[in-house]
Amino acid sequence: MRITKTFFLLSFSCLLCVNVGTAPCWAQENAAPHLEERGATKQLMVDGKPFVMLSGELHNSSSSNLDYMKPIWPRLAAMGLNTVVTPLSWELIEPAEGKFDFTLVDGLLDQARQAHERIVFLWLASWKNGMSSYAPVWVKDDSRRFTRVVEHGNEVEILSPLCAATRQADARAFAALMRHIKEVDGSRHTVLMMQVENEVGVLGDSRDRSEAANKAFAGQVPAELSAYLGAHREELYPDLRELWEANGAKTVGTWTDVFGEGERADEIFMAWQYASYIQAVAQSGKAEYDIPMYVNTWLPGENTPPGQYPSGGSQPRVVDVWKAAGTALDFYSPDLYAANFEEWCKRYRREGNPLYMPETRGGAAGAANVFYALGEDAGIGFSPFGIESEASESDPLGESYKAIAAVTPMLLDHQAAGDVHGFLLDRDQRSVDFTMNGYTLHVSLDSIFGSMTESGFGMIMADGKDKFLGVGKGFRVSFSPYPESGPHVGIGAIDEGKFEDGNWVVGRRLNGDEDDQGQAWRFDSRAVHTEKVSLYSFE
Ligand code: DGJ
Repeated sequence: MRITKTFFLLSFSCLLCVNVGTAPCWAQENAAPHLEERGATKQLMVDGKPFVMLSGELHNSSSSNLDYMKPIWPRLAAMGLNTVVTPLSWELIEPAEGKFDFTLVDGLLDQARQAHERIVFLWLASWKNGMSSYAPVWVKDDSRRFTRVVEHGNEVEILSPLCAATRQADARAFAALMRHIKEVDGSRHTVLMMQVENEVGVLGDSRDRSEAANKAFAGQVPAELSAYLGAHREELYPDLRELWEANGAKTVGTWTDVFGEGERADEIFMAWQYASYIQAVAQSGKAEYDIPMYVNTWLPGENTPPGQYPSGGSQPRVVDVWKAAGTALDFYSPDLYAANFEEWCKRYRREGNPLYMPETRGGAAGAANVFYALGEDAGIGFSPFGIESEASESDPLGESYKAIAAVTPMLLDHQAAGDVHGFLLDRDQRSVDFTMNGYTLHVSLDSIFGSMTESGFGMIMADGKDKFLGVGKGFRVSFSPYPESGPHVGIGAIDEGKFEDGNWVVGRRLNGDEDDQGQAWRFDSRAVHTEKVSLYSFE
């Protein structure tokens, strides 16, 4: 009986796929994880469905040992994570040149599957935080073959991105890894994406001053970069466009002809070198197994000179240079620890770049920020760093993740429809207004009987005519008609509830103090709540 029913459902849904002109269901379900435009945004597709990564990144060394990792997976799962950003280093998979060992990869996959977790592997290879500590010793000890960056006349322990031998060795190892992942995971899709290298760029100087680098810097700006600037002039990040135009918007010339004298030209030059190298590494991996690949970025302070942060990393003002160097990287990510979280989200979610931060703050800050990233900027995931240090069921991030997990199918549909908003409130920003679903929503810090909460966060999505679904805490919402000339708006009913297997299970009817006597849709600050409201109009 069960078989017949399942068969019927499968056949029916497959017919639907064919009728709406998409790839057949079985093809979609078997497709490797990939990014896809869905309505207003780009989403990560896994097993034929959009997926949001409620993730966290492990400390750098945890996943180097399976015994160490064993108890960590179930703790992360209990905290509500569905994905773990898991470091994997070149030194451990190719300890001797050409001799690959994938025991660790297989063990991590096995452990992740047992805990029902997905993985984003982080390829720690030529660079990590600007330095080259994760390259195998056979690379580190051969600085003639694998040349170094020169700063102030000295070789430093940073592999030069201008060295073809290093690029080929890194690319060969990465290709071997991707071939192996395809072999053992191509039909399971435990591995969702790959981060290629970590926070790259020259630290200690604004550019590499090795002989090869000096020669390239004195040479012409590559034609591919000039062509890209010309073809994408309108969409360039404003900072880069301004600099380029201030120097005459030239398409031919040396780096200083085109970008002027000084550190900005050095940074753009380094961005081109790192980007060309890493696009090539990613490309050789993709030729083996094509899943989404990205790089992360050490973000600078607003007036910090390049070299005090890794010069050439894919920060917004040089991200166009990275894009000009190739298309193997699917998107660019911030490591977002900065206090102006919302601003950095906007700087990365532009020109089709989906928002994902492999590193950010967890705890109470992360518990709030995840609502903004996924709700307001259609994030494809969120990932606090050092996640195993805070993994406990009572962690505030876990509370947020579980609440978001329960509404994920709706969230993903509303991201695509463009009618979901996320927000962060505190004493400096006490309210925000949104217009959606025929109403203006005035969202403010919650207060009742003269006492106001310190902070609030959440997301609200349209839930049919005159209805909304909200998740979060510490805020209240009042409604007015949009356009403004409409009738008065009243709160018909508020229900708290939860989603179980996608079905709404209604809880208390909230009224009285809980909706300030019918004046506001309230989410008090004691816990993350999931509530539905319906509205009515009167003249
Ligand atoms: C950023 C790096 O990308 C991480 O690997 C780690 O070193 C953290 N900083 C530490 O805060």
